[in-house]
Amino acid sequence: MPDFFVGTDILTISRIESAISSSSGERFLHRIFTSKEITYCQSKTNPVIHFAGRFAAKESVTKAILSSKVLTRISLKDIEILPDDNGAPVVFISKKISSEYQCKVSISHSDESAVAFALIIVTS
Ligand SMILES: CC(C)(COP(=O)(O)OP(=O)(O)OC[C@H]1O[C@@H](n2cnc3c(N)ncnc32)[C@H](O)[C@@H]1OP(=O)(O)O)[C@@H](O)C(=O)NCCC(=O)NCCS
Repeated sequence: MPDFFVGTDILTISRIESAISSSSGERFLHRIFTSKEITYCQSKTNPVIHFAGRFAAKESVTKAILSSKVLTRISLKDIEILPDDNGAPVVFISKKISSEYQCKVSISHSDESAVAFALIIVTS
C-alpha cells in the first residue's frame, strides 16, 4: 500500500514582482530558479506569474518532502519544475532520492496570486 504526503503553498504575485525588480533581482532569480526555469518563465508574456507559480510549487514540494522525511533539508533550487509537452509541470529533484518516490505538482495563477499543490507517493 503506497504512502502519500502532501504540501501546498499560496503567494501574492506582488511579493515575487518586488523581489525580481529589486536591485538584487537577478541574484534572487538565480538563487531560486534553474537556468531552464528562468528561460521558460522569461519566454512567457507575463513572466512574473510563472515565476510566482514555480516559487509556490517549490514550496509545496518542500512541504511534501519534509513531511515524508525522505530528506531533512532541501533548497528551492534543488527542485526544478519544467513543463511536459502539454505544459503540465514535471518535478525534478537534484538530490538523490529513491526511485520509489514520485513527486507530482499542480500550479495555478491569477494576476494577483499563485497557488500550488504537491503530492509525494512512496511505493515501497
Ligand atoms: C491547462 C489548463 C487547465 C490551465 O488552466 P488555466 O486556467 O489556463 O491556467 P492556470 O493559471 O490555472 O494554470 C497554469 C498552470 O497550469 C499548468 N498546466 C499547463 N498545462 C497543463 C496540463 N496540460 N496539465 C496539467 N497542468 C497544466 C502549468 O503549470 C501552468 O503554469 P505555467 O504556465 O507557469 O507553467 C488550461 O489551459 C486548459 O484547460 N487547457 C485545455 C487543454 C489545452 O488547451 N491545452 C493546450 C495545449 S495543447
